Amino acid sequence: MAEGLGYCLRGEIVSETFTPIGFIRSPFSETKQIPKGPGAKHEEEGVLDVLPEFAAGLKDIEGFSHLFVIWRFHRSDGYDLVGTPPVDDRPHGVFATRSPRRPNAIGLTVVELLRREGGKLHVRGVDMLDGTPILDIKPYLSSIPQEKLRRGWLAEAEARNKK
Ligand SMILES: C[S@@+](CC[C@H](N)C(=O)[O-])C[C@H]1O[C@@H](n2cnc3c(N)ncnc32)[C@H](O)[C@@H]1O
Repeated sequence: MAEGLGYCLRGEIVSETFTPIGFIRSPFSETKQIPKGPGAKHEEEGVLDVLPEFAAGLKDIEGFSHLFVIWRFHRSDGYDLVGTPPVDDRPHGVFATRSPRRPNAIGLTVVELLRREGGKLHVRGVDMLDGTPILDIKPYLSSIPQEKLRRGWLAEAEARNKK
């Protein structure tokens, strides 16, 4: 299964096809099972099941504690440029949220790498449905000091919810 995406280069529409490198095995078969809303924690374990033809690309991944997983919201249809996320009662632009309903339906999740068994990466922190296609995996390296991070509307929504 290939994932098609188009983009505009100097006014010309260019189409690119992404081939999943594997699939996520998660305990979630329906979106309503995935924790969401204020204080939601993602601690469920899952497996990044990398296809045999891409497994050589996992060489040396064991040394990293956390990984970025880039994936496709394959069960999401269409998009809303402005929407109200479950953690707030106010609308925000799609690019200021992590909504599954986005123009290019790409998800990004940081997971903790627990262990590797061949082409299978056992991880903690999945928020994807079982069978979700994986587009890429990269080591998580953050060089941004905590004091420089701003959480925008999310910090304001959390403060309002605490009152
Ligand atoms: C708020 S999004 C955040 C995903 C990711 N951490 C991100 O920031 O891109 C997580 C939600 O996407 C939905 N979801 C998960 N896997 C999906 C899939 N394969 N297709 C469509 N929706 C999915 C579920 O409702 C889940 O609660």
